[in-house]
Amino acid sequence: MMQTQKFLIPLLLASLEAVAAATPNCDLKPSYPAPIVSNGWSAQLVAQGAIEARSIIFDSAGNLLVVQAGYGIFHLAFNDGGSTCLEVAKNTTLISSEALQHGIALSNDGKTLYASSSDAVYSWEYDPEAISLSSTNQTLITGMSNDDHTSRTLLMSQMVPNTLVVSRGSNSNIDLEAEDIKTGHSQIRAFDLTNKAMTSNSTPYDFTTQGRILGWGLRNSVGIAEEPLTGGIYSVENSADEIQRDGTDIHQNNPGEEMNFHGFLNSSTDPNQGGNYGYPNCFALWNTSIPNLGNMTVGSQFSLDQNSTSNDTFCADDHIAPRLTFQAHMAPLDIIFLPNGTEAYISFHGSWNRDPPIGYKVSSIAFSAGSPVAAADSTTALTDLISNADNLKCPDCFRPVGLAMDSQGRIFISSDATGEIYVLAKTSNATASSTSPPSSTPTKSKAGIPLGNNGAARWAFGVAVLFLL
Ligand SMILES: *[C@@H]1O[C@H](CO)[C@@H](O)[C@H](O)[C@H]1NC(C)=O
Ligand SMILES: *[C@@H]1O[C@H](CO)[C@@H](O)[C@H](O)[C@H]1NC(C)=O
Ligand SMILES: *[C@@H]1O[C@H](CO)[C@@H](O)[C@H](O)[C@H]1NC(C)=O
Ligand SMILES: *[C@@H]1O[C@H](CO)[C@@H](O)[C@H](O)[C@H]1NC(C)=O
Ligand SMILES: *[C@@H]1O[C@H](CO)[C@@H](O)[C@H](O)[C@H]1NC(C)=O
Ligand SMILES: *[C@@H]1O[C@H](CO)[C@@H](O)[C@H](O)[C@H]1NC(C)=O
Ligand SMILES: *[C@@H]1O[C@H](CO)[C@@H](O)[C@H](O)[C@H]1NC(C)=O
Ligand SMILES: *[C@@H]1O[C@H](CO)[C@@H](O)[C@H](O)[C@H]1NC(C)=O
Ligand SMILES: *[C@@H]1O[C@H](CO)[C@@H](O)[C@H](O)[C@H]1NC(C)=O
Repeated sequence: MMQTQKFLIPLLLASLEAVAAATPNCDLKPSYPAPIVSNGWSAQLVAQGAIEARSIIFDSAGNLLVVQAGYGIFHLAFNDGGSTCLEVAKNTTLISSEALQHGIALSNDGKTLYASSSDAVYSWEYDPEAISLSSTNQTLITGMSNDDHTSRTLLMSQMVPNTLVVSRGSNSNIDLEAEDIKTGHSQIRAFDLTNKAMTSNSTPYDFTTQGRILGWGLRNSVGIAEEPLTGGIYSVENSADEIQRDGTDIHQNNPGEEMNFHGFLNSSTDPNQGGNYGYPNCFALWNTSIPNLGNMTVGSQFSLDQNSTSNDTFCADDHIAPRLTFQAHMAPLDIIFLPNGTEAYISFHGSWNRDPPIGYKVSSIAFSAGSPVAAADSTTALTDLISNADNLKCPDCFRPVGLAMDSQGRIFISSDATGEIYVLAKTSNATASSTSPPSSTPTKSKAGIPLGNNGAARWAFGVAVLFLL
């Protein structure tokens, strides 16, 4: 008996060590005060060295693809301990490219990768299991080149397969060329890729003259998402800086940032589609303390001046007002939805044109039956999830850009200024208890051992120790 126990204990310790080695280290610390999370959520820094990390997306194998502006696309596989405990297990360069900026998308079968430069959209054949791309690319869309706002966000529709939505920004703060629909500036368009086979002789689409216009007069709509219940397309827009209203400087709290609705992709005659959203003549009101307010309220479209060609009446009558308006200069860069359509999440990159700084956070918005629950003139639609304790330290702080949700509902967030990836998770009630295993089971985990979370591991060890000793 003594002999057996002496034999078993080293065995047990050895197996504990083996499991411990597979358990990720999830203790990365930022070099600045860590961001704070709201009740019911926890967050953890899970990757560093992702310089200029912009859009992020999960592939069909559950791994994260990261666009690093001016560097290329990287594939990150995580050692996953559940909840917020992850560490990078493997980092693979998929494409080295100085041209790629921000946009990334995958085909509906996950086997074609799309990415954008400021001028073009490219595609590659992608094997998520082998972690490999075709050596050559196909140019699908061209003609998007302009200065200043160059992110060219991509969204692949899940409702209308093979439809790629592309957003193009303005060439300056107030880009007068955007007044002319034929310039293609400040527009969101949708392209049917069904007949764009991966053949070397197919002609690319021209953004400026082809595709279906989902909206124009959109200064720089960097975030685009498809609402999962109805297929409604929503975008979030970065509005203008340094503005005056009838000669008075109102830039501190105006114009508001916008969330716009662009109808559904299933019909080219959708009346919610293709309208003008105001820029560069009309802007959304956030703070109503402005000269000559009239009967306007939060979200009303207003003109910077009142004259015979641009004025508040013209803005109210002929332009589509946002579905929601946010505090000026917060810089929304991404929007994603919960699969059941009850919440949207928005990243706010943060301000440069405001004192004190604002934004630098990720917030949620309640949705119901395909629309935001809050009224269009609401100033309280956002619930903050993760933010900096002191924005006065920004921009040297957490600066969220891209959002991606994994199969467990965890939200991954890139921060370009700091070259980081964070994970944000709803706090599991099971972790609070040390006597029962968590009910949630991990799916699509790339971890060697499918631990539910740290609580599950501790519970299992506890049971093993009790049983054997
Ligand atoms: C991934 O690898 C690249 C190239 O070696 C490196 O520059 C980068 O810091 C790595 N990123 C992460 C998140 O580890
Ligand atoms: C796509 O292929 C062309 C032709 O080989 C090449 O010049 C270009 O750099 C590639 N684009 C990217 C983003 O790698
Ligand atoms: C498009 O989708 C919307 C929202 O789901 C739906 O109400 C509408 O009937 C659909 N239209 C067509 C032509 O299928
Ligand atoms: C609105 O703007 C005015 C004038 O700049 C300012 O005094 C006020 O605090 C602002 N209100 C809000 C809610 O930001
Ligand atoms: C606001 O006033 C303008 C004219 O000053 C008028 O055309 C418009 O209908 C009014 N809007 C509302 C909502 O009352
Ligand atoms: C009217 O105001 C708009 C907005 O400030 C300005 O761009 C335009 O030049 C003005 N037009 C005239 C005729 O003054
Ligand atoms: C406001 O602008 C519209 C459209 O440009 C114009 O038709 C109208 O006359 C202008 N109103 C005033 C009072 O100048
Ligand atoms: C929607 O999904 C979230 C996250 O999984 C969950 O907490 C919530 O209860 C769900 N709501 C409905 C109405 O299904
Ligand atoms: C977790 O705890 C919260 C707050 O006590 C409660 O509202 C929620 O229903 C619990 N969720 C689960 C899955 O038990």
